[in-house]
Amino acid sequence: MLSQKYRGMLGKASVIMELSAFAGARAREIGAENVFDFSLGNPSVPVPQAYNACVSGLLNSEPCRAVHGYSQGLGNLEARTRIAASLNRRYGMNYEPDDLFMTAGAAGALAHALRLVTQPGDEVLTIAPYFPEYRPYVELAGCTLTVTPACPDNFQIDFDALERTMNPRVQAVLINTPNNPSGAVYSARTMERLAHFLGEKERQYGHELWLISDEPYREILFDDTPPVYPSRFYPRTLSCYSFSKSLSIPGDRIGYLAVNPACGESKTVTRMAAQISRGIGHDSAATLVQRAAAACCDMTADFSVYRRNRDLLLKELTALGFSIVRPEGTFYMFPRALEDDAAEFCRKAMAYDLILVPGDTFGVADHFRIAYCMETEKVARSLEAWRRFVRTEYAQG
Ligand SMILES: Cc1ncc(COP(=O)(O)O)c(C=O)c1O
Repeated sequence: MLSQKYRGMLGKASVIMELSAFAGARAREIGAENVFDFSLGNPSVPVPQAYNACVSGLLNSEPCRAVHGYSQGLGNLEARTRIAASLNRRYGMNYEPDDLFMTAGAAGALAHALRLVTQPGDEVLTIAPYFPEYRPYVELAGCTLTVTPACPDNFQIDFDALERTMNPRVQAVLINTPNNPSGAVYSARTMERLAHFLGEKERQYGHELWLISDEPYREILFDDTPPVYPSRFYPRTLSCYSFSKSLSIPGDRIGYLAVNPACGESKTVTRMAAQISRGIGHDSAATLVQRAAAACCDMTADFSVYRRNRDLLLKELTALGFSIVRPEGTFYMFPRALEDDAAEFCRKAMAYDLILVPGDTFGVADHFRIAYCMETEKVARSLEAWRRFVRTEYAQG
């Protein structure tokens, strides 16, 4: 018999993918240049030349097995050694290569992290707005996603709300900074308070609490926003990283799970991750890609386009009357819609060929997400559509 669980999920396809499919169909009708598809977080900036050179260099110079063979259980040792050294240098950590487990993107890292620190039936707590895929990630690990709201004026953690939502069934708190969809970056103060909160709750509940830190946008920071590395604040942290956005290579499916050695059993945790891999059929990322990404782990694609797009949209949409928390990173912003029902707002926007994602998908029903990973020229051309939309539908601007 076909699985009822997965059959049941077919009715709940990702809204973002549906919107993106609509944008594709509309592009075939009126030309892609006339559809302002702000729905998908697909990096638009070029891959660094050094990464492509590294892939071809490895292919041309290394024996077949060294690039196409199976890698060790935790992933390629050379890759883990380079990444551990980079994290130690950049964030003052103390990782050894065996504290790292190579994965297929952040999604792969999260699949392992969730299974590492929960039993079926447990709760995993996250903060809204949150990445919609957290729900399937958590539920397919057999757990329940419990959601608490962020502060609406800056999208930092609302500790009063967190106190009300927290309960002894929660085994892990899942955070995402820089945040998709808000672009908010947690401050050191927020992380200190969170670490203190988790420590207090561990004592109160008499069980461990793990922090799962999802960090695919770690390097996409604007305005000299200081990088804050969550694991530095809390020993029981599993950092889930992806090179998808930093190197603009989402299709290469490469990332890692880094276990803070201060938790006391990091090497047991990574060896357990390898056991989870056997069960879910993950069994390591491609050896060639592990080695090339690790060789480029101290560089990034050029994110200046994202900052320019952020500045342009922030200025123009604010002038049109939108209320927007200034994004400090990523390539998203999360304005309040011009009516309480953001789904209706986004539906109306489609008539102007503006493809936006309603906030209920992210757990905040009166906001919407703009993914501005596209050419600045197109963002600039979209402004006329924004003006027509806002003036015609809401008589403002
Ligand atoms: C917040 C967040 N977490 C995880 C992922 C998954 O990343 P990857 O595709 O690299 O696995 C994404 C992808 O967009 C994301 O935005």
